[in-house]
Amino acid sequence: MKSDGELEPTVFVIFGGAGDLTWRKLVPALFDLSQDRGLPSRFAVIAVDRAKSSDIVLRRRLHEGVNHFSRFGKSNAAAWNQFALHIHYQQGKFETLHTYTALGAQCAKLEKAWAAKAHRIFYMATPPSMFGEIPKYLGKAGLARDRDWARIVIEKPIGCDLESARALNSILAASFDESQIYRIDHYLGKETVQNLLAFRFANPLFEPLWNRRYIDYVTITVAETVGVEHRGGYYDHAGALRDMVQNHLTQLFCLVAMEPMVSFDADEIRNKKVDVLHAVRPIQRDTVPKSAVRGQYGSGDLNRKTMPGYCEEDGVARDSQTETFAALKLFIDNWRWQGVPFYLRTGKRLPQQASEVAIQFLAVPHQPFPPDASLGWQPSRLILSIQPEEGIVLGFQAKYPGPRMQLRPVDMRFYYRESFDAPSPDAYETLLWDVMKSDATLFMRADQVEAAWQLLMPVLEAWQATAPSDFPNYAAGTWGPEDVQGLLAPGHRWPLPTELTTAGMVTRKKS
Ligand code: BG6
Repeated sequence: MKSDGELEPTVFVIFGGAGDLTWRKLVPALFDLSQDRGLPSRFAVIAVDRAKSSDIVLRRRLHEGVNHFSRFGKSNAAAWNQFALHIHYQQGKFETLHTYTALGAQCAKLEKAWAAKAHRIFYMATPPSMFGEIPKYLGKAGLARDRDWARIVIEKPIGCDLESARALNSILAASFDESQIYRIDHYLGKETVQNLLAFRFANPLFEPLWNRRYIDYVTITVAETVGVEHRGGYYDHAGALRDMVQNHLTQLFCLVAMEPMVSFDADEIRNKKVDVLHAVRPIQRDTVPKSAVRGQYGSGDLNRKTMPGYCEEDGVARDSQTETFAALKLFIDNWRWQGVPFYLRTGKRLPQQASEVAIQFLAVPHQPFPPDASLGWQPSRLILSIQPEEGIVLGFQAKYPGPRMQLRPVDMRFYYRESFDAPSPDAYETLLWDVMKSDATLFMRADQVEAAWQLLMPVLEAWQATAPSDFPNYAAGTWGPEDVQGLLAPGHRWPLPTELTTAGMVTRKKS
């Protein structure tokens, strides 16, 4: 990036350029960036894919995608036409060297026309089966060589277990330096996820309380109402643990538990996150049922519609044993967190969409109020709401008005939409912008990916070794299998996600 903050000439190569991710996420994000922050005038998208197509056909389809998915809504024709001129299609097989030599020639041609050297970003938006191939060919064609100018972007899943993740990381490392590799976890691009660092480390108020002396337990919930949508084929081989826990929930966990960073340097932040994973008490294979619970949804009512069970979804085996719900109990063996359970849960077809972290503080050490004053008394709780509501709610005790001392729980709230008049960019906009700026802060490093797999391997192996006897064990539209209560220590509970009423007030949903 130039010193004045302007992006330098860039060629953005998308392998899988005719695919769904390009249509749904990448090009809408690039278009939105062009409208919002501005892309360099010397900028090109080269979409590489197998199918026969042309610039015109591809641009027409991508235009539809932008009209569907841009955060600015339907695009202005002039703005789109201007942007579309930067998009080019190149037909080619991903496993043929010729595709890459042709690509190199095309990049060189653009650079010649621009009279400037350009950054080359290679984005793998292909099925995962190609992740091991493309970097090899980029290496062979000499396109990975320039450490300061060539970058590769890879989406999850990064492997399907520790061994395959290590193998993929070594393939990447054979052609690219780690500093050139950008592993995307789109949760890290969300404003509210980035705000976890701001909240914890830009305020002196909370950090002194952020430890075992004041915190009883932490829950991290990522609840989805959606099922597997059109991705049954992929999901049925992945399941909730691989699809969500290994990446998104682990990232939230690391951000909540990490030590303060010394600087905002990408590796400093990533080191602190990896430290958390290294400190997690390993789950023992023979005690997995005490630390992990799995579930699969059966048919049920959600939002007044009857939903099919998981095994009735398209692309899913009728006798599938894949989990659509996973919950874990983790402990971190360090000074800050010794003895504090972290409960993580995620599931599909739950009653409400909600991603949130709840910090449950300990009760006061001595309760001086008369017993009838504190009926309904609850220790303080902090909810960091990632989505759909973006904000923070602090629940604490207050005196109920009247002659007697009576305590009632109340909330103090911060909402993004009320406090800031700037809309949140889509996570992909943030991440693509950062790749173009060569800022790796929000991307996963090889060691973190592997540490996350290492942590989950005993659970994956135990689940693989023993078929679930009770699937489906929760109905669509409920909060997961009953066994999930058994993970909790006495007195602990899963919080009910915050819900915004029409009056703009947050209430707790009744179970
Ligand atoms: C993806 C998972 O990574 O994240 C999906 O593969 C999941 O299964 C999605 O639905 C959730 O992302 P978001 O941003 O909608 O919470």
